[in-house]
Amino acid sequence: MKTNAQIVASTAGNDQKTSKAQPQNTPQQNQNAQFSQMAAMETENRVLRETIFQLKMELDRYRAPALMLAEVADILEKNAIIKLPNGNKFLVNVSNTVKDLKPGDLVTVEQKNLTIIDKLDRERKVEVEQFVIIEQPTTKWSEIGGLQEQENELKEVIELPLTKPELFKKVGISPPKGVLLHGPPGTGKTLLAKAVASSTHSTFIEIVGSELVQKFIGEGAKLVKDVFKLARERAPSIIFIDELDAIAAKRMDLGTSGEREVQRTFMQLLSELDGFKPLDNVKVIGCTNRIDILDPAILRPGRLDRLVEVPVPNKEGLKQVFAIHSKNMTLDKKMNEDRLFKLMEGFSGAEVKASCTEAGYFAIRENRTKIVQKDFEDAIKKVKRFEEDPSSYIGMFG
Ligand SMILES: Nc1ncnc2c1ncn2[C@@H]1O[C@H](COP(=O)(O)OP(=O)(O)OP(=O)(O)O)[C@@H](O)[C@H]1O
Ligand SMILES: [Mg+2]
Repeated sequence: MKTNAQIVASTAGNDQKTSKAQPQNTPQQNQNAQFSQMAAMETENRVLRETIFQLKMELDRYRAPALMLAEVADILEKNAIIKLPNGNKFLVNVSNTVKDLKPGDLVTVEQKNLTIIDKLDRERKVEVEQFVIIEQPTTKWSEIGGLQEQENELKEVIELPLTKPELFKKVGISPPKGVLLHGPPGTGKTLLAKAVASSTHSTFIEIVGSELVQKFIGEGAKLVKDVFKLARERAPSIIFIDELDAIAAKRMDLGTSGEREVQRTFMQLLSELDGFKPLDNVKVIGCTNRIDILDPAILRPGRLDRLVEVPVPNKEGLKQVFAIHSKNMTLDKKMNEDRLFKLMEGFSGAEVKASCTEAGYFAIRENRTKIVQKDFEDAIKKVKRFEEDPSSYIGMFG
């Protein structure tokens, strides 16, 4: 393709040739020649001006700072809250030319003051398989200590319908669609869910409530729908919803559109729960530390109506959990385990595990491979201190 400058050069060249080829012209002819020369020069001038204009525009484009991409998190009256890819949120102005902004829209923003300049039409596509964790867990029941009752309940509600659906048809009852595990952190809720997925050879699809509403603003409801679709495709499967309280908490008011978004996600979850049949080979396990704030709608019959409490272990439970986590450790024969269990009273399974790891570290520091009573006592003290002041975690494994 010829550039404007080349066009100008070739036009000018043609004109020179014509003027040289006619030396003895009449005045009329000379005048005509001058006119055509002038016209050619004017064209040349115009083309050059256009070229300069284009080059200037190009230069401006080079000089203009890049616009940033952000996601609209919430719309207020005149401003908007945007979320940058690094997760930081800002309250910003919106250019007058931008209309119909919704939470979840992808927008370009000015780098310095983050004013929203334009909305990108491109639908941000979130593939459900990219955001859920899909696995085939290998956790065994024998790795869980002190939760016999809870295990039995899960076997009844999840395992039996998945492995023997015909039994339920014969008896004429429909099993619960899912259960809600609730209890303090670190007591083995996730462990139980994984164990039941493993024992039924089910696909384990894990979603985290808080991520659903924070990372995927505007897409929460769609993702819930997609997760259930995926679960049906991969049946038998277990949908594990961790931090359920992030989407299923009771709400006082629905003031901001962010809250409405959470509400939409929650509604979709309820309708998906209502939509599938109890014997669809899909089971749902919800998990929460805050059953007190859950919206009762999620607990209604036909939804997550089986509540399974997972408490901190009692003395017998502590013994079992301790046995599981210390089974590969060389313990001193003279160990007073009863004293340890007294010291660990109120510990969750996770804390018992941490105590074992810590005790191992105390022994390593003294160049021993055998773990003695004092190692455990020091370790328990350290874990207790950590529990009281979580900021001391820096020294936890040091
Ligand atoms: N009952 C238990 N038996 C054996 N190990 C346990 C038990 N409870 C907890 N643990 C240990 O603690 C770790 C954390 O447990 P888990 O992730 O199941 O807790 P959680 O109840 O899901 O906690 P959160 O509410 O914080 O999600 C487990 O990987 C396991 O090593
Ligand atoms: Mg958990």
